[in-house]
This record gives sequence, structure tokens and C-alpha cells, in this order.
Amino acid sequence: MRAEILMPTPDAIRRAAALLRAGELVAFPTETVYGLGGDATNAAAVAAIFAAKGRPALNPLICHVADVAAARPLARFDARAEILATAFWPGPLTLVLPRAADCPATAAVSAGLPSLAVRAPAHPIAQALLAAAGVPLAAPSANRAGRISATAAAHVLAELGDKVKLILDGGDCAIGIESTVVGLTGEQATLLRPGGLATGDIEALIGPLARPGAGPAESPGMLSAHYAPRLPLRINALHPEGREGLLAFGPHAPSGFAAVFNLSERGDLAEAAHNLYAGLRALDRDDLDGIAVAPIPAAGLGVAINDRLRRAAKPPSA
Ligand code: TXA
Ligand code: MG
Repeated sequence: MRAEILMPTPDAIRRAAALLRAGELVAFPTETVYGLGGDATNAAAVAAIFAAKGRPALNPLICHVADVAAARPLARFDARAEILATAFWPGPLTLVLPRAADCPATAAVSAGLPSLAVRAPAHPIAQALLAAAGVPLAAPSANRAGRISATAAAHVLAELGDKVKLILDGGDCAIGIESTVVGLTGEQATLLRPGGLATGDIEALIGPLARPGAGPAESPGMLSAHYAPRLPLRINALHPEGREGLLAFGPHAPSGFAAVFNLSERGDLAEAAHNLYAGLRALDRDDLDGIAVAPIPAAGLGVAINDRLRRAAKPPSA
């Protein structure tokens, strides 16, 4: 199979929705990263998502819905969940909530857990696809497990071109880094993954979030190395050494090196998040033997950028 890339015309959306209803997988853009979508209520489709990515079965998926109303049959919203969904949906925020009693999402979406991750994406193509498909869409990032997320249709083709029938091309993802994941299954709200919505915006509404360390309470997907290029990554590097490429940040990046990708010459963290995965892909070259990454301030979206870089820098077995 070789995936077809289609511009998101009404016809293409209808075809994508028909494929999804038939249990096939479709890759589609969201404002964060591209998703590999399948009907969340169809066990075979969900199994195909895990198989296509090579994703461990213990790592649950996010269920995408159009809005809060569409999420209610899936998960139980408490007061905190209502506040956050009202403030930030549609948008780059995922809520991990208790599964509803008759939750139609197949158990594998939750990896057997009693919780379900739900998110309403803001991207108009994702919204059009959800409306046309009429089912919640389980959709992890459209990359092979452990690899860099896709922020352009060409990245999806490179990662999963032989595993998916159709890729809807929405151009570059505006935010470029995955959604923020907040756990609301217990009394203490927990930051399971920093992401495209700054933590401070969430804490302003529901108070401080706990940050779990490594351990069973952590989001299952965050336990191992992730978001990784093929080349080793050296973070907080001041300049490249040997045959390293340089992922730079800001106006004072060292010059005179052949392989440099500046995440944001004006030192803007939102721009850096938008460029992060494309930059890592661009420097993941056969003629280099590593990627040096400049220090990135850990404020606002910089928290999520540093989180991804730390994980990408871990050896694969970690
Ligand atoms: O921006 C995004 O969130 C993108 C787009 C496509 O929506 N999706 C995405 O999905 O990043 P994925 O599967 O690559 O990451 C989902 C994260 C993983 O870290 C997973 O462990 C966590 O959410 N997660 C999902 N369900 C969970 C649950 N029930 N409990 C705890 N963590 C959960
Ligand atoms: Mg992912």
C-alpha cells in the first residue's frame, strides 16, 4: 500500500470519512501534530493503529471529538473538566477522565485502563472530518512509535506511507508540538505531558498541577525514550562538535557551521515549537553523526520543547 495524499476538498473529506467508517485508517492534520485516525468504537481499527505505529499495547490513545457534547458519552466530566473544556476546547488540551459507564470507545483505546483521554482539536480539517465520520476518532501522533511526530503531510508519508490509505494534507501544523495532557481521574489534577497549551494557563483556572515523577502514575507513553531522531541528541550544547549538526535558538546562535537549523532567529518560543520537529528531521542526516541542541528557555512553550528534547536525547532503552 502507498498512501494517497489529498488536499482537503469536501470530496476528500467525504472519502476519508467513508474509509474511517469502514474501519480503515486516515491521517489528518490537527493544530498540534498530524494524527493517525481510526474509529474509536471499532476494535479492529484501533488494533490497526497500534500495529501501524508499532506502539506497545499498554500505551493508550487519545479519543478525538468535535466538542464537549460529543465527549460526554465517552467520559465523566467533573467541575474541573468542565472549566478546562469550556476555556480551552477546541484546542491543544487533552483531558484524562474516568470512562463513562457505557463508553462506546473500545477498551484498547484506554489500554485497558478505567480512564479515557479526550480532546477536541481546533483544526478545521479535523473538525470537518469528525463531523463527516460521525464517530469519535482514536488518533495518536502519525509517526512510528518512539520517533519524531509529523507536522507536515510529507512527514506522515515518510513515517507511515505504507500503513495508511489516505493522508489529508493540511500543510504545516500551526502549533507543532503535541497537546498538553492533564489527568483528572483523582483528587489531584496532574500534568501528564506538557504541550501546546502552557501549564500556567491551566493552573490559573484550576490551581496547581502535580508533576508526577517517573513511575506507575506517569502517563504510560512517557516512560521511555520518545520523539527521537536516528542520530544521538546532545542537549544544552553551546556549539556543535565534530560532525554534529546544530539545532540553534535565538539571534546569537554560533555561526560558521555547515548544518544549522535555527528554531527561531528572533528567540520566539511559539515559533520554536512550530519548527521543532521539522528541524530535528532536517538535521537527522546520514552525513552527520549527532545533533547538538542549543539551550532553550524553559518558560511558556519552552517547557514542552525541553520535555521533548530530553526524551529524544535518552538512549532508546531508557
Ligand atoms: O496533540 C496531540 O495530542 C496529538 C494529536 C494527533 O491530537 N496526539 C498525540 O497522541 O500526541 P499520542 O498517542 O502520540 O500521545 C498521547 C499521550 C501519550 O503520552 C499517552 O500515554 C497519553 O496521551 N494517554 C492517552 N490516554 C491516556 C490515559 N487513559 N491515561 C494516561 N495517559 C494517557
Ligand atoms: Mg506520540
